[in-house]
Amino acid sequence: MLLYQNYYICGTSETNIFFSVMKKYKRYLVTSALPYANGPIHIGHLAGVYIPSDIYTRYLRLKGEDVISICGSDEHGVPITLKARKEGISPKQVVDRYHEMNKKSFEDFGIAFDIFSRTSNKTHYETASEFFLKLYNKGEFIEKTSLQYYDPEAGCFLADRYITGECPHCHYQAAYGDQCEKCGSSLSPSDLLNPKSTISGSQPILKETFHWYLPLDKYETWLKKWILEEHTEWKPNVYGQCKSWLDQGLQPRAVSRDLDWGVPVPIEGAKGKVLYVWFDAPIGYISATKELTPDWEKYWKDPETRLIHFIGKDNIVFHCIIFPAMLKAEGSFILPDNVPANEFLNLENDKISTSRNWAVWLPEYLEDFPGKQDILRYTLCANAPETKDNDFTWKDFQARNNNELVAILGNFINRTLVLINNYYSGIVPARGKTEGYDNEVLAEIKALAVATGEAIENFKFREGLKEAMNLARLGNKYLADTEPWKLIKTNPERVKTIINISIQITANLSIILEPFLPFSMKKLREWINLSNFSWLDAGKTEILKPGHKISKGGLLFEKIDDETINMQIEKLLKTRKETEKAPLTVASLKETISYEEFSKMDIRTATVLEAEKVPKTSKLLKLKIDCGTDIRTIVSGIAEFYEPEKLIGKQILIIANLEPRTIRGIESKGMILMAEDSKGNLVMVTPESKTENGSIVK
Ligand code: 2FM
Ligand code: ZN
Repeated sequence: MLLYQNYYICGTSETNIFFSVMKKYKRYLVTSALPYANGPIHIGHLAGVYIPSDIYTRYLRLKGEDVISICGSDEHGVPITLKARKEGISPKQVVDRYHEMNKKSFEDFGIAFDIFSRTSNKTHYETASEFFLKLYNKGEFIEKTSLQYYDPEAGCFLADRYITGECPHCHYQAAYGDQCEKCGSSLSPSDLLNPKSTISGSQPILKETFHWYLPLDKYETWLKKWILEEHTEWKPNVYGQCKSWLDQGLQPRAVSRDLDWGVPVPIEGAKGKVLYVWFDAPIGYISATKELTPDWEKYWKDPETRLIHFIGKDNIVFHCIIFPAMLKAEGSFILPDNVPANEFLNLENDKISTSRNWAVWLPEYLEDFPGKQDILRYTLCANAPETKDNDFTWKDFQARNNNELVAILGNFINRTLVLINNYYSGIVPARGKTEGYDNEVLAEIKALAVATGEAIENFKFREGLKEAMNLARLGNKYLADTEPWKLIKTNPERVKTIINISIQITANLSIILEPFLPFSMKKLREWINLSNFSWLDAGKTEILKPGHKISKGGLLFEKIDDETINMQIEKLLKTRKETEKAPLTVASLKETISYEEFSKMDIRTATVLEAEKVPKTSKLLKLKIDCGTDIRTIVSGIAEFYEPEKLIGKQILIIANLEPRTIRGIESKGMILMAEDSKGNLVMVTPESKTENGSIVK
C-alpha cells in the first residue's frame, strides 16, 4: 500500500487490476440506527444494521484507527405511546424495559458499541433543544398552520398511520391513512371514507394546528450535487432511493408534533408540542457522543473525521436527506461520508413482524443456543441482505454451521492443532526450504487477507467473510494435497514446513475472522497463545515464530442435528397458528375517568326471567329481568351468540340507570354487560357465584 499525499492507493496483487483511491481520515465516527425501545431486538435488526456496523468497527479498531461506535435507544414516537396505552403503563415504563433488554442483547452478541445511550436522558434533551433553537434563531424554519385529524375521545392528533377507513379506490375497509395495503394506493387521511381512529375507534375530526417546518426544498439543489454528483460511490440501493426522492422534488417537513411524549419544543407558546421523533433521534448520535467523551466535537466537527451511518433501508431518506439538511442548516457539523443501508431480512419466506411475533428474538435465541452467538453472526453475515431482501431459514442456519463452520473452518483448525501437538508437542516448528506450492500458498495468505480488508472497507461484508473463509478452504486443500500424515515417516523436514505454514494460516484466520466471529476467534487466539496482534499482521506469514508454544485446543464448532432445527421450525409454526387465532388488535384504553364519573353508573346483578327473539331481526333478544328493585324489559343485540332458552335463570350484570330507549317499538330499560373481543364476539359477564338480585357492582 502506498501512501500518496493524503490518499491511500490500494492494490491487492498483480491479478487485481482495480485500484481504489480512498481519502485518508484521522478518525472514524460510526453510528448504528437507534432501535425503537418498544420491543426486543430480532435477527432482522442484527443482519440489517448491527452486524455490519460491528464488523466495520472491529476491523477499524484492529487496524489501530481512532474509531468510536455510537448507538442507543430511540425512545420517542407514536409507537411507544401506543404501546404504553395498550398496556396501561407510561411510555417511560415501556422504554425503560426495552432499553435495558436491548442493551443486554447487544452486549450478549458482542456488538461492541462504545456507548449505548438513550434519547430520554438529560444530555439528549439539552442537545436536541439546543439544535432546534439554533435553527430557530437562524430563521431556518417556517411556521405553518394546517388542518389535521384529531381524535376527540383520546384527546390527541393522529399520525396518518393511526387512522383507518375505507379505501376510495378499492373500498377495502381497513386502509391506513397513508396507504391502502390492498390496492397499494398511496393515500392521505382525508382520502379515507369513514375514517376511524385506531386509538379509540372514534371518528376523527379535522382541527387546526401549527408546526415548525424545515424547508427541504431550500436544500434540494445542494443535496442533488452532494449526493448525486459527489457520492456516486454510495451503494446502488441507497443512491437509487435518494435519486428518486430528489427527482420527485422535496417539500418542507414538519419537525414538531402535538404529543406529550418527546422533547418539548423549547420556545414560548409551544405548549403541548414536542420535536418530531425523526428530528430528535439522529441528534441522539450527537448527544451519545457528548456523553461518551468531552472531545466529542472533534468527532462531529473536524472534516478529518469520517462519519458513517449504518441503517436499514426504511431509514434512508432520514439519514441521507433530512438529517444532512439539518446538519447543513446548523452549519458547524460534518456530513456523513457514507450511509451503507441494507435491505430487509425475511424469516422462512415471510416478512419479519413484531406484531405477528414472526421473528427470531435475540434473548430467545440465546436461551435455545447458549454460547452460540457466532453461528448466528456468521449466518446473518453470509446471507446479509446487502443488495436485495434475503431470507433466513433454519435449514440454511444448520447448513452454514455444519457445512461451513464445522466442516471447513473448525475442521482445518482442529487438524492443524492436532498435528502440531502430535508431532511437535505444540511447539511451532521452523519452516524449511519452501517449494513452489508452499510459495503459492504463502502468497495466497497475503492476497486473501488484503481482499478481506478491502471488502470490509467497501461495506461488502458478505464478500469479506467469503474471502476470509477461503483462507480456511485453502488450508484444508493444502493439508489434503500435501498429506503430512503420510510424509512424517519419509520426509519429516518437509512436514515441519507444512505444519509451520498451516499454523500461520490459523493465526491469520484468528485475525481476519475476528470482526466476524469475535467469540470463536478469541478462543482460538487463546489456544494458539496469540495475544499481541493487529490487522497489520494479517497476511504475514511469520506471525507465530518457531519455538512458540500453543495449547491442545478443542472443537470450535459442533454439528447441529435435525431435531434441534425441527424444534425451531415447529416453534415458528406454532407462533403462526397462534397469531392466526389471536385477535387482530385489542382495543386501546379509553381516556381516564374520575371515580365520580364511574360511580354515576348503576351496575347491578339481575336474573333473566324470560327471553325471546325480536321478530324480523337476527341480532336482537327481548329479555325480561329481575333487577332487585323491579322487573323490567331490556333489548339486547346478543342473538347471534346466545339461544334465548339457555339464558333463562342466568344471573347477569346490567347498567340499570341507562336512559331508556325504544328499540323496534319495545322500550328497553338498561343494558346488559358483555365482553367483546377484537373480532366482535360477545360473552356475558356474570357474577362468580349466585348473589342477591340488585347487588351493586363497584
Ligand atoms: O427505524 C428505526 O428503528 C428508528 N428508530 C431508527 C432511528 S435512527 C436515528 F435516527 F436515530
Ligand atoms: Zn385500496
